[in-house]
Amino acid sequence: MKDLLRETKEKYFEIVENRKTGGKFRQILVCGGTACLFNDAEDIFQTFKDLCKDMKNVSVLSPGCFGLCEEGPFAIIYPEGTAYGHLTVDKVKRIMKEQIIEGKIPLDICYNVQNGKLVEMKEMPFFKKQRRIVLQNCGLIDPLKIEEYVAKDGYFALEKCLKTLSPQQIIDIVKESGLRGRGGGGFPTGKKWEMTAKSISDEKYVCCNADEGDPGAFMDRSILESDPQSVIEAMIIAGFAIGSHKGYIYVRAEYAHAIEVLKKALVQARKFGVLGENILGSGFNFDIDLSFGAGLFVCGEETALMRSIEGKRGEPRPRPPYPAEKGLFDKPTLLNNVETYSNVPQIILKGSEWFSNIGTETSKGTKVFSLTGKIKNTGLVEVPMGMTIKEMIFDIGGGILDDKKFKAVQMGGPSGGCLPASKQEVKIDYDNLVKNGSMMGSGGMIVMDENACMVDIAKFFMEFMVSESCGKCVPCRIGTKRILETLEKITKGKAEENDLEKLKELCFQVKQNSLCGLGQTAPNPVLSTIENFGEEYVAHIRDKKCPAGVCVDLKTYEIDKEKCVGCGLCAKNCPTQAISGEIKKPFVIDQEKCIKCGLCAKSCHFGAVKKN
Ligand SMILES: Cc1cc2nc3c(=O)[nH]c(=O)nc-3n(C[C@H](O)[C@H](O)[C@H](O)COP(=O)(O)O)c2cc1C
Repeated sequence: MKDLLRETKEKYFEIVENRKTGGKFRQILVCGGTACLFNDAEDIFQTFKDLCKDMKNVSVLSPGCFGLCEEGPFAIIYPEGTAYGHLTVDKVKRIMKEQIIEGKIPLDICYNVQNGKLVEMKEMPFFKKQRRIVLQNCGLIDPLKIEEYVAKDGYFALEKCLKTLSPQQIIDIVKESGLRGRGGGGFPTGKKWEMTAKSISDEKYVCCNADEGDPGAFMDRSILESDPQSVIEAMIIAGFAIGSHKGYIYVRAEYAHAIEVLKKALVQARKFGVLGENILGSGFNFDIDLSFGAGLFVCGEETALMRSIEGKRGEPRPRPPYPAEKGLFDKPTLLNNVETYSNVPQIILKGSEWFSNIGTETSKGTKVFSLTGKIKNTGLVEVPMGMTIKEMIFDIGGGILDDKKFKAVQMGGPSGGCLPASKQEVKIDYDNLVKNGSMMGSGGMIVMDENACMVDIAKFFMEFMVSESCGKCVPCRIGTKRILETLEKITKGKAEENDLEKLKELCFQVKQNSLCGLGQTAPNPVLSTIENFGEEYVAHIRDKKCPAGVCVDLKTYEIDKEKCVGCGLCAKNCPTQAISGEIKKPFVIDQEKCIKCGLCAKSCHFGAVKKN
């Protein structure tokens, strides 16, 4: 049999390598991630294409996501290595005229300029401290061309497994690498593979969890959109290692672009001979189907996910038995997250030691995060485990929007915890985050500034949990509702002092008695905000004040007697006639009638209306 992998690599290697430098060709790479597409990246791509159509040696391509969502639509042009953000059709025309035709780089609109000089993208703060393993091909290869994945050593790990390693040797490599599940729990991946391999059954399944239900998280979606073959390759390797011939990728239906890419990637993998029957001539058969989730958070939980694939209502069930013994269709099933799988081909190729040398004692490798919230550089980042929260937020994230003060960061999604600014030196790894009152989760990082009310934040996450609770178990169905009601009482100024103790007790009960991880972790944002921002709860309950001025019912407007000139404009604008007074004398607000709309403060020319 001819050596398809090596021949393909040889043919496409230069094309992909040139993409980083330009080589003989001019490369115009337009980010194709969902965030950029949402901001009309397709128009930008088409404009570049139209304007380049008569030019020789120019390639316009959409190579997945670069990660810098904040700047979208975003493009990089080689060989100069210029990057441009917030692209519009007019900007594209200017870039084409000045950089491409006249050879003069328009530095004033160029992203990677420091002190008036063009710098390499890898030297820009957003990229400098990143280490890309999982995202190595994102923004580089065409996700719709399997040949380009092969040019970056794609499917060589599968070949190594099929031709030179036994299933147990593969499992040992994954175990020794120290890889832990990236879907939230951090369970050792190799151990899970071994448990599933040891289960005896005529049929087993390999599942990929691409449900990604955490608000603000988009790591898995971006990996699937930009490098789908890495996940497919890992699932085939997993199938060979545990003795399975069938895989499912469970992806939420709202990930329309990721689904389109995955469908095409699966067709290509079958045509290329790495998926289906007799893979790479080895005699091993494995195929993958897609299964679409309706977008329920609980369907990311492993037992609920499997029921959903089976076509049943997505509800969790008690464990044991664990999926490794009894999973999909009651058969032993291996379930891993998208990012977990995406690490595997490189671990097989480069060795467990290479991987375990990256990261910390208990958390090996890198972690992909989606940085969102009040941060300058919203985006997708990959860093070695052990990086501090401060480095993530200030060095990579560029600091807080409008240079406000950093107040807190919510890590681990709605099941995680809010860490205060005083914990910004905490190093990111599974155990360290738990020790400090949060968790890694799947990698969502929501940054908050000084204007955030932490009680309101806890209420936001609890609202999410109440609507996402599947209702199967009482502690979660009723308990989360009661927690939310208490938080509403607090933010309305109707709580009493003993409500805080009652709230904590309720949280512990829900944590302890819920059936699945949803209820067991739902109270975390409440408990972590009580722990780290207890004084804000006290201010709401005892003083009936919201220190951040967010909770509408606790806001008060007052007129400063010294500043008020008695013009009466505030009274004229007040929709409830809550303001009264005599012209040229200080006016007063009747707190009973005031509806806290703030029109008085907005209309006053003398800054006399204070918001408390
Ligand atoms: C409520 C809930 C939602 C979850 N959502 C996801 C999810 O969206 N993606 C994911 O990979 N894991 C999710 N998990 C964790 C999975 O149950 C499972 O542990 C994980 O997919 C295993 O893969 P890993 O070992 O590679 O992390 C969720 C767990 C719970 C309790």
